[in-house]
Amino acid sequence: MKTSMVMASSHKIFLLFFFITFLLFPTTQAQTDPYHICSPNKNFAANSAFQSDRARLLSSLASNNATDFNTATVVGRANTVHGLFMCRGDVDLTTCHQCVVNATQRLPSDCPVSKEAIVWYDECLLRYSNRSFFSTVDTRPRIGLLNTQNVSNPASFMRTLYDIMNKTANEAAKPAMGEKKYASTARQASTTRGDILAFRTVYCLAQCTPDLSSSDCSRCLSGAIGDLNWCCDGKEGGRVLYPSCNVRYELYPFYLPEAAAPTPTPAIVPLPGSQGKALTYLLKL
Ligand SMILES: *[C@@H]1O[C@H](CO)[C@@H](O)[C@H](O)[C@H]1NC(C)=O
Ligand SMILES: *[C@@H]1O[C@H](CO)[C@@H](O)[C@H](O)[C@H]1NC(C)=O
Ligand SMILES: *[C@@H]1O[C@H](CO)[C@@H](O)[C@H](O)[C@H]1NC(C)=O
Ligand SMILES: *[C@@H]1O[C@H](CO)[C@@H](O)[C@H](O)[C@H]1NC(C)=O
Ligand SMILES: *[C@@H]1O[C@H](CO)[C@@H](O)[C@H](O)[C@H]1NC(C)=O
Repeated sequence: MKTSMVMASSHKIFLLFFFITFLLFPTTQAQTDPYHICSPNKNFAANSAFQSDRARLLSSLASNNATDFNTATVVGRANTVHGLFMCRGDVDLTTCHQCVVNATQRLPSDCPVSKEAIVWYDECLLRYSNRSFFSTVDTRPRIGLLNTQNVSNPASFMRTLYDIMNKTANEAAKPAMGEKKYASTARQASTTRGDILAFRTVYCLAQCTPDLSSSDCSRCLSGAIGDLNWCCDGKEGGRVLYPSCNVRYELYPFYLPEAAAPTPTPAIVPLPGSQGKALTYLLKL
């Protein structure tokens, strides 16, 4: 199975870098998590106060094993560093903590001198900045990840997908500011392969950082859902990752069900191929 990855940032040089990367490597490239982005042109001097402030911030975030979301701020002599982590809504606290610890170890080596950086794992995200970003909707930088396997009936599949995604997003956005904003949905969608008309389960997930208000979460998720068109039109799986929210869908379960699994209907016909989880990603712009 082939899968692709789309990356973008508001920064032109950064875009150019990935554009060049794409031209140099137009073939499918294997990618697995984590996916990180270091803000360009916001660097600090190595061994400066910022470096030790960031280390304090990350160790403070890594020391928390009791919640699946947390923020921290370190006020240094010249700078203030803000940071947060959030785990995927279905992930248990032990896995969450492990993911956050991994992220706090990886990010400083991936972005050694960046004043602002973010890393997305399958199970968590971690970000920090010298700018205060709590309770603000950040939709950049963004990453799109796609499964290059095509659905055979893209127009009707995407209509169904947007409908499910929209409902999932509405659920995720309901809780008030400060509360967990996560929802997952599994629903049957019709699909065809060759002459076979069948139904397959589409698994959808939407999540915002809990520091957003309900309406800001909705706004963020609307943008991410709109970007599914940009990255993943007609594909069997896709993700749009923003700093403040993210959405994902697949034709296999990738999260733990919140409630009962969808009831299988007699119409289900097992389809050959493309059921696996093995994903490879193509860097694309
Ligand atoms: C958190 O850490 C404490 C102290 O190391 C430990 O006793 C506790 O079991 C941990 N909790 C979780 C959810 O991992
Ligand atoms: C954290 O890193 C360890 C060691 O590399 C790895 O075994 C584990 O799967 C990682 N956990 C998460 C949740 O990323
Ligand atoms: C963050 O750092 C950048 C680069 O040094 C600087 O231009 C910007 O003013 C800083 N922002 C804040 C809020 O301190
Ligand atoms: C999916 O469709 C696109 C455009 O029609 C095509 O270029 C691509 O090769 C197809 N991918 C697969 C895995 O069949
Ligand atoms: C879902 O669609 C409805 C109706 O078009 C709209 O009012 C709502 O804002 C949408 N929700 C999201 C999260 O996009």
